Parts: sequence; C-alpha cells; structure tokens
Amino acid sequence: MNSAEKAQLLRDCKGKSRISALTAYDYPMARLLDEVDIDVLLVGDSLGMVVLGFPDTTHVTMAHMLHHTAAVARAKPRALVLGDLPIHSYDSASQALDSAKQLIDAGADAVKLEGGIEQSDTVRGLRAASIEVIGHIGMLPQQVLEQGGYRKKGKTPAAAEQLIRDAQALEAAGVCAIVLESIVPDVARQITQAVGVSTIGIGCGETTCDGEVAVITDLLGSFPWFVPPFAQPEADLAEHIKSAAKAYRQRVCGA
Ligand code: KIV
Repeated sequence: MNSAEKAQLLRDCKGKSRISALTAYDYPMARLLDEVDIDVLLVGDSLGMVVLGFPDTTHVTMAHMLHHTAAVARAKPRALVLGDLPIHSYDSASQALDSAKQLIDAGADAVKLEGGIEQSDTVRGLRAASIEVIGHIGMLPQQVLEQGGYRKKGKTPAAAEQLIRDAQALEAAGVCAIVLESIVPDVARQITQAVGVSTIGIGCGETTCDGEVAVITDLLGSFPWFVPPFAQPEADLAEHIKSAAKAYRQRVCGA
C-alpha cells in the first residue's frame, strides 16, 4: 500500500473504527509493533527525551529525525510511518516543504507538525506537493519552554473555541488526522465531533478521540525517570532489563 492509500485508510476510520498509534524509534520496535497491527508508527520527536537523553524535544534536529525515521522504515511496516517535523524545521512554508521531503525520502508516509490555524498555509503547501500531513494541537511539546511546562489545554471557553477553530483550519488545509495532546476531555470530545478527520488523543481521556497514541516507553515502563500522569504502563521493562543485567553480571563476575 502506498502512503496516500495508508492516509486514506486513516481518513476512512472516522466514525467506523478506532486508530491505534504508538511511537517507534528503531527497526526492531517497528517490526514488533507492526506484527501486532498497530495502525500508525510515530517516529516522534519525543525520541529526544526517551532515546537521546535531552530534557525536552527542543534539542531534536532533522539529522536525528532522519536517522530514526530511516531505521523504522527499514522494517517496511504495513502501518503508516509518521515522521515528526522537529522544531525549527518548518519555520517557513518553503523550509517545511524541504524538511518534509527529506523525511518522506527517509521512508515516512506522512509528516506531523505542531500548531493550528497558523500552520494552515504550510499544510496547504505540503498537500500541494502530495505530502500527507497530520496536525498536532493542544499541548505543544516544542513550545514547552515558552509555555513554562506541560499544562492541560482548553480550560476556558475561549481556549476551547480556539482549539476547535484550529482543528477545523487544519482539516480545511488537508490533514488526514489530528493529534490532540493534553486537552481537557470534554473539549477533546467537542473537537472530535467538530471535524471530519480522525482525532488521535494523548492525555485527553481515552474515549474522547477517534484513536489514541502513546509513547512506547510509557507503555513498556522502560523510561522510569519521567512518566507522564496519563501514562498507562502495560509492562515494567526497566525492572526486567535491570534484573537481566544483574543476572549477567553475576554469571560473568560471580556473586
Ligand atoms: O513526539 C511524540 O511522541 C509525540 C506524541 C506525544 C504525540 O508527538
């Protein structure tokens, strides 16, 4: 299936079936997640924190994103591979086009960028070049420094209305889905009802959107030093890794 067909599948999910999305940053994880039919593999710029050890996503560069997108794409997943445009790789529409083309050449089926109505022209430019785009509104991790931390969005009627307008503007510009991050549940539900494209939530309450995305290390419990309050781990890999390494050390060095 080509990228446009994968994006169309996402569009067709609206109102019919829910979308499962997880971050993947390397080849084995992409293969494993694809083998259990996860719909979207997001090569998120969260890799800056959970793979590269930066304090936030503002340190992530195009070189990082290309390296990891190519690794995920080598798994040749059936899932849609979604590459994040990192901070300052889409400061203008022409820069966005150049950066998005690089991610597509590295193997992404679609690109994701943060922001609402202000990104409409950029999204239109990408769509004009037949690049599939997913929007991202609500808490925008690339603006964490300006915003003074990770805070819930949509708390006032004015903020809620702005988020709805942002989502509608992104839909009109041609995105195939929109990530909603850390938006109060009732507002996330309203946005989901206000647009004809699928919404994919994180930190918005699990039934408020058309699908859900999680950071893989939150799901696996493999990055215990920062766990967002909304994370719902299904495993405790950190403990498994430490006990395997301890057993190995004892085998090699003695007790
Ligand atoms: O980079 C990422 O992992 C993301 C998710 C938080 C949606 O953008």
